Amino acid sequence: MKFAPMKELLNLAEEKGIAYGAFVTVSYDSALAAIEAGSELNVPVIFITGTDCCELMGGFEGTVETVKRAAANTLVPIALHLDHCRTFEECVAAINAGYSSVMIDGSSLPFEENIALTRKVVEYAHPLGITVEGELGKLVGEEGDLIVKGPEGAQTDPEEARIFVERTGVDCLAVSIGTQHGAYVAAPHLNIPRLKAIREVVNVPLVLHGGSGTPVDQVQDSIRNGIRKINVATDVITAMVKKYNEVTKVPGFKYNTAIYPQVKDAMKELIKEKMNQFRFM
Ligand code: 13P
Repeated sequence: MKFAPMKELLNLAEEKGIAYGAFVTVSYDSALAAIEAGSELNVPVIFITGTDCCELMGGFEGTVETVKRAAANTLVPIALHLDHCRTFEECVAAINAGYSSVMIDGSSLPFEENIALTRKVVEYAHPLGITVEGELGKLVGEEGDLIVKGPEGAQTDPEEARIFVERTGVDCLAVSIGTQHGAYVAAPHLNIPRLKAIREVVNVPLVLHGGSGTPVDQVQDSIRNGIRKINVATDVITAMVKKYNEVTKVPGFKYNTAIYPQVKDAMKELIKEKMNQFRFM
């Protein structure tokens, strides 16, 4: 099987006025959970894997193989996306291993350096038909080894976003409008006026990171205003851990492999719920 270019899926989402979820995977069973969810609802699946996730599946090659095996019998399009990559070299390695999409995250760099690094990845990826996501602005929270503390977070500036997209040629842009990576300590308030202002001047699909725990009405408001991909990691992990805890508390619980399919199904149900929330129109 061949992975779908993520750009095509995001363009489809744009046409339909919906968003596609992009779900974390760290193993064959977590990949299977999302693929079964997508197959049951007939919704394309985007996988996000940071380099930390890839290490758990045997590097980029192992991740490509794991996801392909899990997707062997599905008819829905599947995109495999490298999440929050900070170097040109790792983007190249993922593309060479078979990824259909990469995110080059230069958001911690000065503006001009972010543009130069992102442009370099685009120049390598586009002739090969690979989608590139860039990021501008900074989300508070933790994602793998990426840690941004409260005062260091910064929302995306619309005019900078316009210049960034024009000069880099990225296919989609991750924006910071008030979500956070990981569990929220205080309820989020998405900055929809800022999102509207970005969308007015940027002509590529917009991406929302930190999709976990964000109130559904705010998520759906962001979709109405141009968000086309929503990254979800913490909620998938929470569904997994909750199920382990629940099952082990049942009287007479035995430590055997029967627990694994139940945990996989808990992740699948969570993913189905998100997929339905994101295509609510
Ligand atoms: P959450 O863990 O908050 O869902 O964020 C995931 C994410 O944005 C990955 O890039």
